[in-house]
Amino acid sequence: MSAPKQLGDAKQFRIAPVKTLADFEQAVKVQLAVWGYSDSELVPKRVFLVAQRIGGQVLGAFDGEALVGFAMALPGYHDGKPYLHSHMLAVLPEYRNAGLGRRLKLAQRDDALERGIDRMEWTFDPLEIKNAHLNIARLGAIARRYMRNIYGPSTSPLQGGLPTDRLVVEWWLKSERVRRALGEETTEQATVADEVVERIDVPCIVHEWKRDPQRRTLAESLQTRNRLILESAFARGLAITGYERCANGDGFFLLGRVGGL
Ligand SMILES: CC(C)(COP(=O)(O)OP(=O)(O)OC[C@H]1O[C@@H](n2cnc3c(N)ncnc32)[C@H](O)[C@@H]1OP(=O)(O)O)[C@@H](O)C(=O)NCCC(=O)NCCS
Repeated sequence: MSAPKQLGDAKQFRIAPVKTLADFEQAVKVQLAVWGYSDSELVPKRVFLVAQRIGGQVLGAFDGEALVGFAMALPGYHDGKPYLHSHMLAVLPEYRNAGLGRRLKLAQRDDALERGIDRMEWTFDPLEIKNAHLNIARLGAIARRYMRNIYGPSTSPLQGGLPTDRLVVEWWLKSERVRRALGEETTEQATVADEVVERIDVPCIVHEWKRDPQRRTLAESLQTRNRLILESAFARGLAITGYERCANGDGFFLLGRVGGL
């Protein structure tokens, strides 16, 4: 992995729609650098182009002319209403933790709202707690659906050979919850914190376990344990409404009842 760049002021990076074939090609390269997929799993540039053309989104984070991150979404329908399914969010390793991932999500939200869409969804691996922090704590998304091994086996080293279990995230773009997470003005009622009914821990050592073939079974046991706890909680009407990051890097999903969105 390349050494982290000295990023300075992240505002120097431009977030803009990706429109040219050359930039779609750059997006495919970023995808490869981030996930390391084999050809059969790699989303080709034509699909990026189609996503952009048919009402989805392909937004890029640019350092000069170089694409260093992107968010790609496909249009979908829920109960007859349009929404956006964000299929991929990627930032090159040396550009991470400077706010680009969050800025790409905010740009997706702005674009969706401009088009009258108030719901976005995506999936993430519940063992990837950085994503949990970004999605739940920083963006105000919630999760109340669990999908077991949704994509089947993956060639991405990030998956560590584990089943591709995913949480489905709902991002209600105009909700008080989201506005509160984004620091936008909200009503007084929205400042009342959610009641936490259950907490589910995810130790950060799971990343080491996933990378180490000798200890991978530990990661798989944790995945199975949390899968069962989450599925049971969702079946009882609970949702992930918060995420707590501990000083040592471990994390907790906070579950409660979703009131108003
Ligand atoms: C997920 C990803 C796009 C985020 O991009 P990014 O530019 O690093 O994201 P940001 O800088 O906006 O936000 C990262 C947040 O995670 C936090 N973070 C970093 N490491 C963390 C960890 N181990 N545990 C919890 N939070 C962590 C950062 O502090 C930051 O939060 P803050 O703004 O409250 O300080 C990037 O890490 C990536 O490409 N990952 C691989 C692909 C992937 O998993 N994509 C998402 C699923 S499709």
